[in-house]
Amino acid sequence: MIYRDKHICNTFGLEAVADLYIEYCSVEELSLDFARAREPFLHVGGGSNLLFASPRFEGTVFHNACNAIEVISQDADSVLVRVGGGVVWDFFVEWCVTRGWYGAENLSLIPGEVGAAAVQNIGAYGAEVKDIIESVETFDIDTGSERVFSREECRYGYRSSFFKTPEGRRFFVIAVVMRLSFKPVFNLSYGTLKQLPQEKLSLKGIREHIVATRQAKLPDPAEIGSAGSFFMNPVVPQTKFEELLAEYPDMPHYPAEGGVKLSAGWMIDRCGLKGIRRGNAGVYEKQALVLVNLGGATAEEILALAQEVIDVVNAKFGVTLHPEAQIVV
Ligand code: EPU
Repeated sequence: MIYRDKHICNTFGLEAVADLYIEYCSVEELSLDFARAREPFLHVGGGSNLLFASPRFEGTVFHNACNAIEVISQDADSVLVRVGGGVVWDFFVEWCVTRGWYGAENLSLIPGEVGAAAVQNIGAYGAEVKDIIESVETFDIDTGSERVFSREECRYGYRSSFFKTPEGRRFFVIAVVMRLSFKPVFNLSYGTLKQLPQEKLSLKGIREHIVATRQAKLPDPAEIGSAGSFFMNPVVPQTKFEELLAEYPDMPHYPAEGGVKLSAGWMIDRCGLKGIRRGNAGVYEKQALVLVNLGGATAEEILALAQEVIDVVNAKFGVTLHPEAQIVV
């Protein structure tokens, strides 16, 4: 289906209209409609990690509406499911929890769709989606052919993958194959999950705990516009970390590839920026990592606030924050 001048759904609640908008339910439909597309291209999921710097996207937006979930195979320990890129992520998590299948529960209530989840390697509460991904089915817009990527070929990192690189962008995610386990193995490595009482140690109990934690800390996109965490947690070299720890002994930190991962939310909070307001943009009062649209904010206001946060954190800690949200120019 092709639309002209269509609004692009985005959880920041910003005005964004695409010259052309192609929504497809199959590779066949995508291949047919692709002939009408004009560059630049932007492939969107639920629009929950995007900031539209301009109210008009003068190119073609693609949206995957493949909504099927099918069981491909199963063995004694696990089941393999193929999930359309257009399936709402949390619908899938609940679907797994209802069936008693383990692996997706820590990622409960993350906004967005399955295709975007596989591109960004969404993560929360000690888990990342890469942990359950077996392979990713894509459509190569340059050659018009399909290509399946194994998990290794996706080159997953913290909120990153091959699909986010300049060479990887030409592969549109059509469906994701995930493996869920029948074995009751929980991932309780993260903070508050460690203190979960015994009677809550079930798929349903963990999902409920995470849903409640997220609802308490993060804005509901239906009420307050945001893109979730606006910044990534920075990774700094060991020597820089030791310097900072000497000055801030209570600084949260986590082991990471190439150094130590710090908590951007904690640093922004320590700079006294939590809850500040600039025009209609603000730093969320319950989680400083989240920038919010307090009603009618413009992209300029949000971007200026983001720059202020980057500058203040840099001046205090000597660490540069980078946006996690994708800024569409
Ligand atoms: N903290 C503060 N003040 C704040 C926010 C956090 O002191 O305003 C402290 C917390 O007390 C805690 C530490 O910073 O010691 C980490 O905070 P939190 O547990 O809230 O997690 P986060 O690192 O800020 C990440 C993800 C979230 C995910 C949570 C839970 C990124 C960029 N963000 O946030 O993901 O839900 O962990 O696992 O990695 C998202 O990507 O949109 C998102 C919400």
